[in-house]
Amino acid sequence: MCGIVAYIGKKDAFPIIIKGLKRLEYRGYDSAGVALIDNGQLNIYKCAGKVANLEAFISEKNAEGTIGIGHTRWATHGPPTDVNAHPHVSMDGSLALIHNGIIENYDSLKQELIKQGYVFKSETDTEVLVHLVDNISKKEKVWFGEALRMALSHVVGAYAIVAISKDFPNQMVAARKSSPLVVGIGEDGDFYLASDATPIVEYTKQVVYLEDEEIAVIKFGEELKLFSINDEEKRPYIQQLEMELEALEKGGYEHFMLKEIHEQPRSIQDCLRGRLNAQEGRVTLGGIKDYEQKMIQANRLILVACGTSWHAALVGEYLIEDLARINVEVEYASEFRYRNPILSENDVVIAISQSGETADTMAALELAKSKGATILGICNVVGSSISRITDAGSYTHAGPEIGVASTKAFTAQVTLLTLVALSLAHKKGSISETDFRILLTELEAIPEKVKKVLETNAKIEQIALEYKDATNALYLGRGSSFPVALEGALKLKEISYIHAEGYPAAEMKHGPIALIDENMPVFVIATKGNSYEKVVSNIQEVKARKGKIIAIVTEGDTQVREMADHVIEIPETNEILVPLLATIPFQLLSYHIAVMRNCNVDQPRNLAKSVTVE
Ligand code: G6P
Repeated sequence: MCGIVAYIGKKDAFPIIIKGLKRLEYRGYDSAGVALIDNGQLNIYKCAGKVANLEAFISEKNAEGTIGIGHTRWATHGPPTDVNAHPHVSMDGSLALIHNGIIENYDSLKQELIKQGYVFKSETDTEVLVHLVDNISKKEKVWFGEALRMALSHVVGAYAIVAISKDFPNQMVAARKSSPLVVGIGEDGDFYLASDATPIVEYTKQVVYLEDEEIAVIKFGEELKLFSINDEEKRPYIQQLEMELEALEKGGYEHFMLKEIHEQPRSIQDCLRGRLNAQEGRVTLGGIKDYEQKMIQANRLILVACGTSWHAALVGEYLIEDLARINVEVEYASEFRYRNPILSENDVVIAISQSGETADTMAALELAKSKGATILGICNVVGSSISRITDAGSYTHAGPEIGVASTKAFTAQVTLLTLVALSLAHKKGSISETDFRILLTELEAIPEKVKKVLETNAKIEQIALEYKDATNALYLGRGSSFPVALEGALKLKEISYIHAEGYPAAEMKHGPIALIDENMPVFVIATKGNSYEKVVSNIQEVKARKGKIIAIVTEGDTQVREMADHVIEIPETNEILVPLLATIPFQLLSYHIAVMRNCNVDQPRNLAKSVTVE
């Protein structure tokens, strides 16, 4: 993971870098550091902790210079200490480098460098890179850019790197493989580099996304030069950013997570816009329309994802199988990639990813592609790696999601998967025209219904107060509400550090029921639908063991209300659309509990939003 930012131009680099690092902190917040070249001196400032620590640490120093690099770390090799913080510097103090990724063969490279007299200060894999570049530069008598290019042919692993040298104070060199890197082209001959476009958008909208094994040589006032690792010059493909700056700010909310929860009526609407026309009975998915027949005729659709996106994929499985009658499998990308899956040209593998950068999901796609399968993507971040390697795909259009715990990205993924299921079902003829139109009308009404669910916030806050000190929690659901239970449990554990588990309601009696006593809150999705009566029985089982029931029910429900300790009502909708509504009270509940427990809601401990390591 880790976030990297760099600037070269006429402006003061430090404020630009610090602001950029704050935007990228979602990628890791174990330590932070910057390197600046000022009057021929290379100055390094770095310390353990968040970017705010670094800012405080630097406040009394003269952090000047118009060229600089900055890093916010998610620790892989070596604990989060000052010494392990990036940038890492060559022994003669002339070269500094930041890195996001993992150098897998770092140990053998390190042993070789130690034999040649290099002394390592840190435990990181990155320090190997800086000494390797220095070593090649001295041995081959080449400048550091050329040495970096040569060094990369010895490196196995993933990297986004930016390097500067006090001997070349007018330029920087960057490279990428598997970890993202974007170059922003400013108006005054200046350049901005970052792991994603968020630190760049307020300065320029002209960007170039580096491709794998590309090296950028960046000189103030000159054109951006791109080379392959084999030294062939490449033409930069300049794109226009569509992101707006306001989308990256908290807009009056106390936390990004709360803002993002409240944005859902709009983000779901944005996902539907231009794709759903209930009046005319049409669903159009421009990005994948040329692949819909292939999907309909496929052996199987395999949805690969991690974390919250995996939960969205599970909802997708219910929807696509139910409506389009196509065989769907859902896989953890990290498992799929390593278990020699049986794949053929008749399979379609669909990656679901908010960031579009998750290393395991990328690798799963690469594997599927190598076996001849069609690969598609459902991503939120425009221009992300997954969206670029897939044959085709659709964006969820949820807008930037900054809170580490995913909320609006999840509901947008589920919305898009609902559209996919409906579109395939309609084209295949597995749904009647009447049912199709009814569902389109229901789906169109979802953003307004989400608004109504958000009105339950005050009630949910009260419930949170009652259960904030719980040590365990159970989440139950059936059918497509089972993934909602999984997602509810994940939200609670990741931001409030309360142990929570999601279960199919009927499976409770095969184990978790042993945990139930008067201290155990059990959160149940008990909305009207096919399995309502069954869920009611499961609630009885919990009550018989004195567990506390907090149930999400359909507006007007009376039966569950009589049994439950608390009910949260959501508007009535078609059963298959319930996940879009039922997930929201769980998001709010986790949020309030985490706030009451003084947890860092937007940046929970040990987590990162974009997991670009395996
Ligand atoms: C991390 C994030 C989760 C996310 C998962 C998959 O664990 O903290 O919120 O669901 O990665 O990320 P992706 O970007 O592929 O959806």
